[in-house]
Amino acid sequence: MRRRPDLGGLEAVLLDMDGTLVDSDASVERAWSTWAGEYGVPVDTVLAVAHGSPAGRTVAHLLPRLGPEEVAIAARRQLALQYDDLSDVAAAPGAHELLATLDRCGLPWAVVTSADGRLAKARLAAAGIDPPLLLTIDDVRHGKPDPEGYLRAAGLLRADPAACLVVEDSEPGLAAGTAAGMPTAALRGLDGDLRLFDLGHLAHLLRRARTSPWWRDAVGYQVYLPSFGDSTGDGWGDLAGAGEHLDHLARLGVDVVWLTPFFRSPMRDHGYDIADYRVVDPSFGGDAALDELLARAHRRGMRVIGDLVVNHTSDAHPWFTAASSSRADPYRDYYIWRDPAPDGGPPNNWLSHFGGPAWTFSEATGQYYLHLFSPEQPDLNWRNPALAAQVDEVIEHWLARGLDGFRIDTAAYLVKDADLRDNPLLPADLLVPVGGVTMEWRRQDHRHDIHQPDVHAVHERWRRVADRHDAFLVGEVYELDPGTLARFVDGERLHSSFWFGLVESGWDPERIDTMLAAAAAASPRLSWVQGNHDRPRAATRYGGGQVGRRRSLALHVLMASLPGTMWIYQGEELGLGDGHVPRGHGADPLATAEPGQSRDAARTPMPWRPGPGLGFTTGRPWLPEGGRTDADTVAAQEADPASHLTTLRRLLTTRRRLAGPAAATDEIARADLGAGVTAYRRGGLWAVANLRDATAAEVELPAPAVFDSDDPAVTPERPRTGRVRLAPQQALLLAGPWPAS
Ligand code: GLC
Repeated sequence: MRRRPDLGGLEAVLLDMDGTLVDSDASVERAWSTWAGEYGVPVDTVLAVAHGSPAGRTVAHLLPRLGPEEVAIAARRQLALQYDDLSDVAAAPGAHELLATLDRCGLPWAVVTSADGRLAKARLAAAGIDPPLLLTIDDVRHGKPDPEGYLRAAGLLRADPAACLVVEDSEPGLAAGTAAGMPTAALRGLDGDLRLFDLGHLAHLLRRARTSPWWRDAVGYQVYLPSFGDSTGDGWGDLAGAGEHLDHLARLGVDVVWLTPFFRSPMRDHGYDIADYRVVDPSFGGDAALDELLARAHRRGMRVIGDLVVNHTSDAHPWFTAASSSRADPYRDYYIWRDPAPDGGPPNNWLSHFGGPAWTFSEATGQYYLHLFSPEQPDLNWRNPALAAQVDEVIEHWLARGLDGFRIDTAAYLVKDADLRDNPLLPADLLVPVGGVTMEWRRQDHRHDIHQPDVHAVHERWRRVADRHDAFLVGEVYELDPGTLARFVDGERLHSSFWFGLVESGWDPERIDTMLAAAAAASPRLSWVQGNHDRPRAATRYGGGQVGRRRSLALHVLMASLPGTMWIYQGEELGLGDGHVPRGHGADPLATAEPGQSRDAARTPMPWRPGPGLGFTTGRPWLPEGGRTDADTVAAQEADPASHLTTLRRLLTTRRRLAGPAAATDEIARADLGAGVTAYRRGGLWAVANLRDATAAEVELPAPAVFDSDDPAVTPERPRTGRVRLAPQQALLLAGPWPAS
């Protein structure tokens, strides 16, 4: 297995030149093609071997009958052709960002190339790069794949070779790094210890490695596993299928991926009903598929968290089978059992999320058991210390195995009122307008069944386990009051918790503005979300179509400035609205209780490319495709510079470049930039949005705009200043002046 390089502990970064730091592809190819013509070698054969090794070696390989002197002449001719042609030599994408980052991190660096000195200097100068140390084929006896160049560079920089990162875009170069005992980062789809899509990616990973804790200000992405990618053609998503799409996530700027439950399960609630906490369900690919996915994600510098569902198990869990066999069974107390009420009915008035009472009678032992979800999801008894100890071990098991943390399912539900008192009923005018739960459920004031203060003690004990592994715990807590929610992330409790204000909301700009400001002020540790697999998609709730998409994007721009973590639900990066699921084709247990509340529309397959199966599956998907258009797909949006995907990617790329100055402080302040303008300032970073629907806003920019949702030409290199007119839902990021620290 590959090592996970310790980017925080690096002592130097050693970069190859051609194809890595300098984009010279066109001129290298031209030179070799001319040379091939002169020497009568087929061009394709030349281009296949020319990259990454010294010219002399390539010539000797291609013309094995030539003697050493003739090889030297032929190689000199080849080089002469290259010296003459610097016309389209330029710095590789992200090169200058990387070099600036190395500078800021105080990391020494060098260029180690198989080119000769004269050529290397000419190309680097053409790309505007002046390395503090340059080793060429003139300085070392053996070119790549021999490790000599890299070892010499480490020696000259007085760095431990094991703490030098080699960055390469060719097999011989990577082999040289590995032979030198150095961790490697590979470009162009090659696999090193790290796999980069460009040098800006490495800059980001180096900055994140110096951010403590690692999840601070991270970008998260929720993968709803059944609907993300199917590698087997059975129409059901799996871990290998998800692994095929990790490059999409890395390019988007994702730091941490949340996988919905992959444990063994009868799938009555699509994985949220677990029958074995230590085994990966075969339908998701089994244990080996998880190991492979973790390795692939880690190689791209992303972390992966699982989904800890321990409010309840599946009724197929061996604990429940044992517990329901006899009142005297040692596992009996893992669940919550009560005698029937005097009339033989349920012990109290609590309700199941999925309809009807929260109690089911078990004939075998003559008692009711509690389930806040379906009868197939019996609630665990969190007042039993033996259960708590078991769950500690489950967490420990997965963190040791390579998971980087957990999203905690129904984190505020675990502990129930010790006396199981009835919930009071709410007066009709107090009903909170939330989705994803039945009307019946909304009629109660859930004072006794959920959100009990004792739950914090459970989170505190998990936190101790997580911190031993530098892991991250983020809670699913449907507590909309930011002040109360903040208590879940106080002190040594959960690291973060989702704030669902924007998930529960339709489009009401004034309300959103007020709510978001209150949440931003409540804690710097909240997780910002607009959607998930349980609620209608953001673009739909915000009005649908192009308007819904613009509104969602404007909120993403605001979220990008807030301290905490920012999350994207799969498909949100495409601006997807709800998928269309014809009557009778759904699969959600909630829909049996109240069809209008079905969660299926948010769970239809991810549209990767046009055509049957949407690139999600070659078979028949488990949920309908949802009526996606070609323009909804990743493939179509990738190719369109003005698409939702490209714009969100641009937002996140800009945000991560500004992360350093912004993260200098967690203080966030609302700024008054005029009527109808929502603006936040955090250190040197500002987010400005016009949330109004019909009216443009005139704004005098207090700092240069480096991102504009409506104008791809605005970048940190080409900022916009002065007075701007913001169209409805147009949003900007501004940068500077940086705080002194
Ligand atoms: C959470 C999940 C939801 C699931 C429920 C029961 O709310 O997000 O999908 O049905 O818990 O585990």
